[in-house]
Amino acid sequence: MTDNQVLNMEQILTHPHVKKATDDTNEQLLERRKYSPPQCDVFLNPYTILEETDQYRFELDKEATEQLPNIIGNRVQLIKGQESVDDDVARQYGQTRHIGIVFSGGPAPGGHNVIAGLYDAAKKANPATKIFGFLVGPDGIIDNEAVELTDAMVDNYRNLGGFTMIKTGRTKIDTGEKMMLSRETCHKLKLDALVVVGGDDSNTNAAFLAQELISDGVQIIGVPKTIDGDIQVRDADGKILCAMSFGFHTAARAFAGSISNLCTDSSSDIKYWHICKVMGRVASHLALEVALQTHANMTLIGEDLADYVDQERFQKAQKDKTIDYHAYGMTLRHLSRIICEGIVRRAAVGKNYGVIVIPEGVLEFINEIQVFILKLNTIIADHNRTHDRDFHSSFPRLEDKLEYLRRLAQRSREDTAFKLWNSRDDDLFNNIPAFFQKGLLMERDSHGNFPFSQVETEKVILGLVRDYLHILKEEGIYKVGIHKDYFSKMIANKGLDPDRYGPAIFKNYGSGEHLLVKPNIISIKTLNQALQDEGLLAAGDQIPAVVEMIFKKSMPSFNTQNHFYGYDGRGSDPTRFDCNYTYNLGLTVFSLIANGATGQMAAIKNLDMEFAKWEPIGIPIAPLMHLEERKSKLALVIEKSIVDVKSSAFQVVKAHREKWLAAVPGDDHYRRPGPIRFSGSSEEERPITLELNAIANAEN
Ligand code: FBP
Repeated sequence: MTDNQVLNMEQILTHPHVKKATDDTNEQLLERRKYSPPQCDVFLNPYTILEETDQYRFELDKEATEQLPNIIGNRVQLIKGQESVDDDVARQYGQTRHIGIVFSGGPAPGGHNVIAGLYDAAKKANPATKIFGFLVGPDGIIDNEAVELTDAMVDNYRNLGGFTMIKTGRTKIDTGEKMMLSRETCHKLKLDALVVVGGDDSNTNAAFLAQELISDGVQIIGVPKTIDGDIQVRDADGKILCAMSFGFHTAARAFAGSISNLCTDSSSDIKYWHICKVMGRVASHLALEVALQTHANMTLIGEDLADYVDQERFQKAQKDKTIDYHAYGMTLRHLSRIICEGIVRRAAVGKNYGVIVIPEGVLEFINEIQVFILKLNTIIADHNRTHDRDFHSSFPRLEDKLEYLRRLAQRSREDTAFKLWNSRDDDLFNNIPAFFQKGLLMERDSHGNFPFSQVETEKVILGLVRDYLHILKEEGIYKVGIHKDYFSKMIANKGLDPDRYGPAIFKNYGSGEHLLVKPNIISIKTLNQALQDEGLLAAGDQIPAVVEMIFKKSMPSFNTQNHFYGYDGRGSDPTRFDCNYTYNLGLTVFSLIANGATGQMAAIKNLDMEFAKWEPIGIPIAPLMHLEERKSKLALVIEKSIVDVKSSAFQVVKAHREKWLAAVPGDDHYRRPGPIRFSGSSEEERPITLELNAIANAEN
């Protein structure tokens, strides 16, 4: 285009560069759609069969045995490839089927590839087979809202993030009526099988559907998904069956890419502490992986805080031959002290900046908060059970809710048998900031889960940190260290003698690389006084400008930027690990269906090893279930897997804490994972957590 050529709007909009720039597709999208994930060896055969194995042992819950009698006896199924099979088996394998699939719970990168794997395998076995996608989660099953998936729909979303194709929802099929409507939908669509892609709660739901619909001949297969990484399955002897749910790697990599950028920014303009809350409703797996990926200065791990024992209190109690329950677990106050200690130590070596990673579920591991969460769960559930309007409609405003709690406290004073909410609870609750009260009173989801993502956890912790840093500043403990060479140069430049001013101002002049202003000098006034005491200033004289400038540099302000990494990473396009993992999960699902399984969860064993060693399996869901309190009632659920503080991954992070805090002169130790890379060979093959835990697993 030459300078004097003027194009009209029509010409601009039809210009090939403009068309390319404004097209919805781009090179990276096309590359992703084209990518064909490798298939586990067994799937390269025309058929697969299931082989039940007794290698794995489960301790069955009595309640699960009673409630799920038809699937409690299921065993782990190994999937084996077959060149040829008997005619009967071949007929069963290739029969025309109707298969439904639903996403349940929060999106997790890779979900579309589960569909793609299932679709490809089912159509290969019999092109007449139909796959129906239920829309907007389990509501789609209840309301019979489904679409038949086509080649074009599936191809459009291959290797792409989100659950966009059919959407997702958090409804639970937990009443007789919802179960009846679900059964009707299965009949209307003539479903042979229904696939539930979801987390612990959704797979729990899948088990109940499997039990209920077994007599209708509808097979139910679960697929473990959640970015939180808290579905990890071991048998009763600790043998790993599923090391990690899908979506975890991508979310962690996405968070780590952004947090690593903050490490770079904060170590460049050296003025901010970046406080990064990362998703993970309860377990801190994502925070742990982010720590390994980025080497951020501090990473809190909830499970580690719960594991804490206050040795001083513990030993005192032992001496007194009593038990001090307050010695176990960390309080919010104590946690804030630990964070402050790190901040103060870094400031002392001139680093009044850094990055802190906080898991969104950390409060679940702080006793005092957990008590509130449990009590309020019960209060809300009790109210909903006995009233026509639910708790949140009855008390829409925070004041209404607080008033209700006040009435409960009053009741506890009048009726000693009522212990749920007493005056002490009420006083403590009224002492916390309103935004946190609101957070703790937030509506629970249909599974009774507390909505941690909506609570400004970081703000709660930061409030305490800020208050304590203020005290430390007043006490002259929180100071920014001034490099000794900088001090000498600046003072000498103004014709002053560093060896006269240094000892007057700093407590460690002559011994430290970073000089720390004496604790009693906390203002211009106290600086003036200190200089007068050393005969460097006469009463009424001005402090030399350079001395005042250096003093001001030593006075820290705690500037923070808060970030929340959650929905962004959850919506990320999957890493190659998650693409390959989920496509093979889809193939596994079909193999389980084609071989008549129900009440099983598709999984891939040996995820911590090279791809050639991956083994698709079926895990029985019912034996994984146990009783847990939900909505103040005991309910059968699959146990969430939280961070094992004895695991190699956690121990490695713990061993590097001091190094990554980098509260010593010199550079930080940040790691640059970069953004998720889909092509090329520089992207890691699997989560670092898996890699590290595999070391210990291999030794056992
Ligand atoms: P799932 O367990 O359903 O996979 O969802 C996990 C999660 O992403 C959590 O990390 C987060 O706390 C929660 O979902 C957010 O829920 P919502 O999407 O309802 O805001």
